Amino acid sequence: MKPIFFVSFLLYFLVSLSRATPDHHEDTGNGGSSIVFTSLGRLDYQFDIFSLPISKLPASKPRETKITDGQSVNFNGHFPSSSSSSSSQTLIQIAGPPEPQPLRLVYVTERNGFSNIYYDEVYYYDDHDLEVSDRVQFPLLELGEKEQRISMKDRPSLVGDYLVYVSTHEDSGEPRTSSAAVYSTELKSGVTRRLTPYGVADYSPSVSPSGNWTAVASYGGKGWHGEIEELSTDIYVFLTRDGTRRVKVVQHGGWPCWVDESTLYFHRRGEDMWWSIYRAILPETGSLSTRSVMIERVTPPGLHVFTPATSPGNKNFIAVATRRPTSQFRHIELFDLRRNEFKELTHLVSPKTHHFNPFISPDSSRVGYHKCRGKEDGIESSTILFLQNLPSPIQDVSLFAFDGRFPSFSPAGDRIAYAKFPGLFVVDLDGQNLRKVYDGNAFCTAWDPIRKGVIYTSAGPNFGSVDTEVDIVSINVDDVDHPTINKLTTNDQNNAFPSPSPDGKWIVFRSGRTGYKNLYIMDAEKGERSVLHRLTDGPWSDTMPNWSPDGEWIVFASDRHDPGNGSFELYLIHPNGTGFRKLVQSGSRGITAHPWFSPDGKRIVFTSDYGAISAEPISNPLQYQPYGEIFTINLDGSDIRRMTHNFYEDGTPVWVGKHIKAVDVVWPEDMPACDFEDLDWLNKMPSQGFEAKAMMIKMIKCGGSL
Ligand SMILES: *[C@@H]1O[C@H](CO)[C@@H](O)[C@H](O)[C@H]1NC(C)=O
Ligand SMILES: *[C@@H]1O[C@H](CO)[C@@H](O)[C@H](O)[C@H]1NC(C)=O
Ligand SMILES: *[C@@H]1O[C@H](CO)[C@@H](O)[C@H](O)[C@H]1NC(C)=O
Repeated sequence: MKPIFFVSFLLYFLVSLSRATPDHHEDTGNGGSSIVFTSLGRLDYQFDIFSLPISKLPASKPRETKITDGQSVNFNGHFPSSSSSSSSQTLIQIAGPPEPQPLRLVYVTERNGFSNIYYDEVYYYDDHDLEVSDRVQFPLLELGEKEQRISMKDRPSLVGDYLVYVSTHEDSGEPRTSSAAVYSTELKSGVTRRLTPYGVADYSPSVSPSGNWTAVASYGGKGWHGEIEELSTDIYVFLTRDGTRRVKVVQHGGWPCWVDESTLYFHRRGEDMWWSIYRAILPETGSLSTRSVMIERVTPPGLHVFTPATSPGNKNFIAVATRRPTSQFRHIELFDLRRNEFKELTHLVSPKTHHFNPFISPDSSRVGYHKCRGKEDGIESSTILFLQNLPSPIQDVSLFAFDGRFPSFSPAGDRIAYAKFPGLFVVDLDGQNLRKVYDGNAFCTAWDPIRKGVIYTSAGPNFGSVDTEVDIVSINVDDVDHPTINKLTTNDQNNAFPSPSPDGKWIVFRSGRTGYKNLYIMDAEKGERSVLHRLTDGPWSDTMPNWSPDGEWIVFASDRHDPGNGSFELYLIHPNGTGFRKLVQSGSRGITAHPWFSPDGKRIVFTSDYGAISAEPISNPLQYQPYGEIFTINLDGSDIRRMTHNFYEDGTPVWVGKHIKAVDVVWPEDMPACDFEDLDWLNKMPSQGFEAKAMMIKMIKCGGSL
C-alpha cells in the first residue's frame, strides 16, 4: 500500500499527464519525407540512475540500488530536498504504521523521444531485497506543445515547490551561441519563468538549501569560442524567485553546488591542468562580488576530480567523479573534507563501468549517479534502438537518429546503407536482413538513383591527409554471394564523398589530387578514365557535395572564406560551374557541413555548431563534436530551423523521400551494450612538475580568483 500523502501530491499532475501524452503515432500518410542522421554514442548509453548507501564502515561492499526503470536513457538525478517533502512527512504519520521509506528522485529522461524531467517514487520490498515493489512516476513538466518538446532539459533540482532546470527551447537567435538557459517552474501553478538573462547561456544550476539562491555556470556575453573540453564559464548566483540580484561570484568555474547559504563547491581545470574541486565562501554581509568571495582549492593534484555534489549542511564530505591515472574508468568517490581523503564507492561495485554526475540525499545517507545499465537477465530493455524517433518541427517530415554512420537510403526508401569503421553494411528499414557488403574501411554512402542495388562510397581511411589514398568505388550490393566492387578513381589520391546525379550518369566528388580538395565530376559507370571535369578550383577545401533531385544544383561545404582555419560554410553551384553562391553563413569560425537536399529540392538539411554547446562537456561521455546538431534551411538561405537539441554529436543527415512512420525501431537482435568511451582528453594526466607547482599554489592559498 502506498502512503496516503501521495494521492494529494499526485493531483497536481493528473492534468499535465493527460495533456502530455505523446503524439508521435500521428502519421498523416499523405506523402511527406524523413530526415535520418547519425547520433554518436546515444544509442549505446542506456543510462539508468543507481544509488549506493554511504556507510560509516570502511571497505564494506555496498549494495547498489537501481532507481529508474530501464526505459530509454535516464540521467542527472537529484534527490528532492526535505523542504519539498515536509508536508508529506506529516501525512505519513497519519497514514499508520511506518512503511519502508521510498526513494524519491527527480531526473532527466528521453522516453517517448523527447527530453523531459520526471519524478519517481520507488518502494522496495525491504532493505535486503532490492526488488522494486511499487513505483509512482510522472513527468514534472507539461510539454504538451510540440515546440516545447524540441529542446534539451538538464540538471533538474526540486526545492520547495520549485523545479529549477536547464532548457534549450528558446533559440538564442545568434549563430554559435548556446540556447541553454535556466528556468523555474512552480509545480502547483505550472507557471514557468526564465531566470537567465537573454543573450547569456547558463549551465548546471544548483539551488541553495533554503531555495532562495541559485548558482549557475554561465557563459556570458562572449559567444562561443569553439572549446569542447572545459567551457570558459564563470559562476553567478541570483534569486531563484525571479533571477534578480544576479552577481558573478567566481571567475572561472563550473558545476556549482551549495552546502549552506554562503558556501559553494565547484570544479575547474587549474593552472596545473588537473581538474579539481574548489570551495567558494561568500560573505555573509556586505556586497557580493568576485572580490569579496574567498576561494580555496579542495582536492589535490594527481587525479582529475570534477562534478562535485553536496548535501545541505554536511561539512564532512562531498561526492565527486574522478579519473585516476590508475583507472580507465570514471568513478564516484567521497572526499572527506576533514581528513582530505578519498573514499572509493562505485569502484567497489562495478570497477569497469563509467559512473557520472553524483548527487547526495538531503540526509547524507546515499549517493546517486548514472551509468549504463548493461545487460540484465531476462529484461527486454537491453534492446538497442535502430531508429530512434524524435519530435520534428516540420510538418510531414519525420525525424530519426540512426545507429550507424553515414546512412543513405535506396531510391525506394526500403534499405539503408551505412558505414561502421571498418565495413559497409546494408539493412532493411525494419532492422532485418543485415549484411556486410564491404570489409575495408569506407566512409560516406550514396545509392545510384537508377541502377538497382548500386551504392557509391569512399574506400580508405577517414580523416586522411590530402595524399592518403582514398578511392571512389561502386558496389553492387545485390550480388549476394560476392558484391562486385568497381573502382572509379585511378590516381591514388584522396578522393571522397561521391554523390550521383539524379539521372545516374555522373558522380560529383571531392579530390585532393592537386594538393587542395576541390570538386570534380566523373562518369558514374566507367569512372574518371572515361570522363572527368573539374568543377571548383582554388587553394582551399571544397567537400561533401550533394546533387539536387532536379539536377540543377550541387551543394557543398567549403572553407574558402578562411582556408585551413577549420571553419566550413555551405555553398551552391550549378553542375556547369555557374551560379556559385554562399548558402549558410555559419557565424565567425563556425562549422556547417554534410548538406543533403530535401526530396522536393527546396530545402537542405545539414549539421552545424550553430547552437554551440548545450551542457558542460565534462558531465558526459566522449562526444568528439558535442556541438553537432541538425538544421534545415531553404534554398534561398531563409528559415534556418534547428531540428535537434542534445549534448550528443549529431551528424551526416540524409533526407529521404519517404515518410517513415514516426515510431522507434529496435534492432531485432541483442547488440553489445555500454560500449562507449569516456572523454579522451581526460586520459591526459598532467606531468609531475605541474603537481609540484600546484602544491605550492595550494600552500600559498591565495584567496579570490587565481
Ligand atoms: C529566504 O528568503 C525568505 C524570503 O525572502 C526569507 O524570509 C528567509 O529568511 C530566507 N532564508 C535564508 C536562509 O536566507
Ligand atoms: C548552367 O546551368 C544552369 C542550371 O542548369 C543553367 O540555368 C545555365 O543556363 C547554364 N549555363 C550555361 C552557360 O550553360
Ligand atoms: C586563420 O588562422 C591563422 C593562423 O592559424 C590566423 O593568423 C588568422 O588570423 C586566422 N584567420 C581568421 C580569419 O581567423
